[in-house]
Amino acid sequence: MSAVEIVQLGNPVLRVVATPVTEVGGIETQTEIKAMQAALASTQGVGLAAPQIGISKQIVIVASRPSPRYPQAPLMEPTVMINPRFVALSEEKEKGWEGCLSIPGIRALVPRYTAIEVTYTNIEGHAVQQQFDSFVARIFQHEYDHLEGKVYLDRVEDNQDIVAESEYFKLIV
Ligand code: NI
Repeated sequence: MSAVEIVQLGNPVLRVVATPVTEVGGIETQTEIKAMQAALASTQGVGLAAPQIGISKQIVIVASRPSPRYPQAPLMEPTVMINPRFVALSEEKEKGWEGCLSIPGIRALVPRYTAIEVTYTNIEGHAVQQQFDSFVARIFQHEYDHLEGKVYLDRVEDNQDIVAESEYFKLIV
């Protein structure tokens, strides 16, 4: 498979609501998921949504792992989530740093629910229910926003919470 390009902010596909997947086991869906996995593997990202490779469908991958981009990230098995939904398990939100492969070079503090319950269809077509907290819950909410045509900058409460990535790396060490 040739290299998959990550769609950048300004591309309209990042601003539309993604369509639910109807045929999870279909060859088209499976091919799209493989393209997403390949795209994510070629980056230091911790998650990816289908619209980020130009596919306006409700598929995300959550793949927390420590990297130079996110040194504190916990390690988890990369998880493909089809048609995901979530509910907050408490009203509590916490500000934390986020970046996005579609918006290179900057980071911002974003308020997110600290504990959530997610339901989705997995790659084998089975319904799954899972609870996530802290950083993994944050990744999920970030990727879910992409399916709604939102990006994390839309949720920043104060422009002063936006920094250049070079400054962010000074802040976290
Ligand atoms: Ni993103």
